[in-house]
Amino acid sequence: MSGNITFTMIKPDAVEDGYIGAILGKISEAGFKIKALKLTQLTIDDAKKFYEIHKERPFYNELVQFMSRGPIVAAVLEKNNAVEDFRTLIGATNPENAAEGTIRKTFARSVGENAVHGSDSDENALIETRFHFSGRDVF
Ligand code: RTP
Ligand code: MG
Repeated sequence: MSGNITFTMIKPDAVEDGYIGAILGKISEAGFKIKALKLTQLTIDDAKKFYEIHKERPFYNELVQFMSRGPIVAAVLEKNNAVEDFRTLIGATNPENAAEGTIRKTFARSVGENAVHGSDSDENALIETRFHFSGRDVF
């Protein structure tokens, strides 16, 4: 079951730009089923913890400020091969390098403000789901 689950956030830039509906539409069209969904906002501490793996990187502080500056949409998605297929759907981290038709190519502003997050492994998909949702909110 874990291989069929991924976790995503629609990041503050895409929420500010009014793309929640369009991005959820692309996710649904690509065959992902929504298992959990909420509009929420990360505190600075939440963002630090969520992206702790990047704490030595030069962009860490900028990333934490960005991810906590406004609302996000958090969601758990289900599909066969969810983690890999979702990373394909969102495209490369830098939208300049993302394939045509991908979510980042279509909606991202820059390498930092890149519209969406996608889990990078089955293990992290579960950790990130538990970070944002209690069991009763995942269907
Ligand atoms: P994500 O974790 O958000 O799905 O993104 P990703 O795997 O494609 O990229 P990752 O290397 O995990 O980086 C996490 C997020 O940090 C910001 N970033 N900024 N200014 C920069 O050079 C830079 N590089 C990365 C982006 O928001 C990236 O998604
Ligand atoms: Mg990542």
